[in-house]
Amino acid sequence: MQVDISTDEQLLHYIVSEDPAEMEALFQAARETRARQFGRKVYFRGLIEFTNYCKNNCYYCGIRRGNQNVARYRLTPEEILDCCHRGDTLGYKTFVLQGGEDPWFTDARMVEIISAIRQEFPDHAITLSMGERSRESYQALYDAGANRYLLRHETADAVHYSHLHPQEMSLSARMQCLYALKEIGYQVGAGFMVGSPFQTPETLLEDLRFLRRLRPQMVGIGPFLPQGDTPFGQEPAGSLELTLRMVALCRLLLPKALLPATTALGTLSPLGRERALQAGANVVMPNLSPLGVRAQYALYDNKICTGDEAAECRACMERRILSQGFVPDLSRGDYPGIAQ
Ligand code: 5AD
Ligand code: FES
Repeated sequence: MQVDISTDEQLLHYIVSEDPAEMEALFQAARETRARQFGRKVYFRGLIEFTNYCKNNCYYCGIRRGNQNVARYRLTPEEILDCCHRGDTLGYKTFVLQGGEDPWFTDARMVEIISAIRQEFPDHAITLSMGERSRESYQALYDAGANRYLLRHETADAVHYSHLHPQEMSLSARMQCLYALKEIGYQVGAGFMVGSPFQTPETLLEDLRFLRRLRPQMVGIGPFLPQGDTPFGQEPAGSLELTLRMVALCRLLLPKALLPATTALGTLSPLGRERALQAGANVVMPNLSPLGVRAQYALYDNKICTGDEAAECRACMERRILSQGFVPDLSRGDYPGIAQ
């Protein structure tokens, strides 16, 4: 069956279709596109959750500032470097420093941390995921040696965005950040949750249209999962099938993109990440954070891998990748065609 997604009508059709044969055709097309670009490789990124302080109050997120039930932590620069060393020993060539929007990590402190990592690991990729900052800040972090930046847009529909975030946050500010990051020269990751409250097929279409315009190098797509202490704590989780469908559509729209099989998918369903690999995903991000803080980085409830050592996560992901007929690849895994 031919899969044609050249018009918005066709995209919307694949978002809402209830025809299993059409879905199978979609996943197969995504697998083929992925295979053409990347063969059977799946790239590894070592994830370091370095702070769960956050000045924002997003309605869906477990580490929002209004949540008094989280024990807050912040890794020291030394602890962050230790994580990088552990990751390097495990073979990772990409470190992802992810955290809430924590004002303690000023430009001066971040520049120091990034420079130290860059000095010790001149050939590794340094990815940041720490929210909205000024263009000058993004530039300073880039100049210090960061290469990539993950900043999910969350939803490309402004009204939907305002249902997920307090008034002080806006879709236009988020988009400005993404375009600034791209202009500076970062490999940029956008992305969104599937099944977040107030989402509709039309807002999902808007997400895909936005991705087509922005052309990010990476796209993180995972299901919304409720976190009990948030305003959305009683809302239903997003659907596995629809999340996989969005991954597949994203693969077809952006054939060279780096698409993670997300932890949220693995939390929603035991084989969620494996299914994502079969729907066009080509990246996994095992956790490198110290065991003692893992459970505190709880964006949503029941998050997996909070009790596993970094080495266990690495071995576990390797088994899962091989079980699906793919091959773990520990190279940097830059966006195809980008000079390092
Ligand atoms: N369920 C799923 N994903 C979430 N995120 C934050 N909270 C949740 C949740 N409850 C995602 C957001 C954010 C990323 C780091 O984690 O998309 O950008
Ligand atoms: Fe931290 Fe939304 S709660 S960015």
